[in-house]
Amino acid sequence: MIIIKNLDITYPGKRKVKAVDNVSLEIKKGEIFGIIGLSGAGKSSLLRAINGLVRPTSGEVWVDGVEITRLSSKELLSLRQKIGMIFQHFNLLDSRTVFGNVAFPLEIGGYPRERIKKRVMEVLELVGLLDKADSYPRELSGGQKQRVGIARAIAANPKILLCDEPTSALDPQTTGQILKLLAEINRKLGITIVIITHEMRVITEICDRVAVMDNGRVVEEGVVTDVFLNPWHPITKEFVNTVISKELPEEVLLQARTKRPDREVLLLRFAGNTANEPVVSRIIKETGVELSILYGNIGHLKDVPYGILAVEIFGDENKRDKVRQILHELSVKLEVV
Ligand SMILES: Nc1ncnc2c1ncn2[C@@H]1O[C@H](COP(=O)(O)OP(=O)(O)OP(=O)(O)O)[C@@H](O)[C@H]1O
Ligand SMILES: [Mg+2]
Repeated sequence: MIIIKNLDITYPGKRKVKAVDNVSLEIKKGEIFGIIGLSGAGKSSLLRAINGLVRPTSGEVWVDGVEITRLSSKELLSLRQKIGMIFQHFNLLDSRTVFGNVAFPLEIGGYPRERIKKRVMEVLELVGLLDKADSYPRELSGGQKQRVGIARAIAANPKILLCDEPTSALDPQTTGQILKLLAEINRKLGITIVIITHEMRVITEICDRVAVMDNGRVVEEGVVTDVFLNPWHPITKEFVNTVISKELPEEVLLQARTKRPDREVLLLRFAGNTANEPVVSRIIKETGVELSILYGNIGHLKDVPYGILAVEIFGDENKRDKVRQILHELSVKLEVV
């Protein structure tokens, strides 16, 4: 759907800034692709290159089989009809009602009046704002404003929705609602979504794949579960730690450091189906070790359950080897603390 090849974006000026540095990415049709990075990492520049709002210094951007860096301004305008965009600060027109805001791209697209009316009502219903059609943006909450932004972005039936930090100005609860709405739009309408953020939560709750940006470069990329459970770049580790700390509580560490020959403390990390398997009961039943749980943290990555568990096992060397074998069979990742 979107292919980015060796993209460079350098802003001219006295001190040249290389905002995007040799980035290559492929975003598949129908997926929700997240790009996470700290402020200034180059996320917005990269996102804007996808709809031609920013012209790259070098490299290629392919959207639906078309190389867009070669398009004329007029061709770009018609391409943007296929690509909706939403923003952190909503960017609504204050002088227009909710209806007027959502109708705007359709008016520009030259749709007949009756069709505009029908379509605006359709998308307002989809985002849950039918009753606000005649309100003005100043009369809405942040979450409602973003819903208007989303309705406007999908009004012209785009194939792609670009989201520039869509929840960064919202409280946690409203963030959850907007993320749910985006996931629903992706599922119901099959729109490919690219979302940039500095919040790990946005990635874990709705994204299928993620790229981590630092200093203009993509430093890590992959399926969210893989990246989340095995981050290797320091920046990624930091982001992951904001959602689920892999640092064990002090008292657990203390206990682990007190060495005894007949026991050890293990840190188990599991994801997907294994998270549902009765790992602990199987270990106890099949090996005869005694086990106590010191610390646990279970969550969800989109639809995939994952968790970490620190357990203390008591038993001889032989039994403990058996434990390792079972964990290996269940593809549970294991660290001795
Ligand atoms: N129009 C511009 N002219 C000059 N420099 C720019 C321009 N836009 C961005 N930059 C610079 O490019 C770098 C990347 O900026 P960009 O906005 O892409 O980062 P970002 O990851 O979106 O950051 P944030 O999370 O703060 O929005 C920054 O150093 C920024 O100062
Ligand atoms: Mg930005």
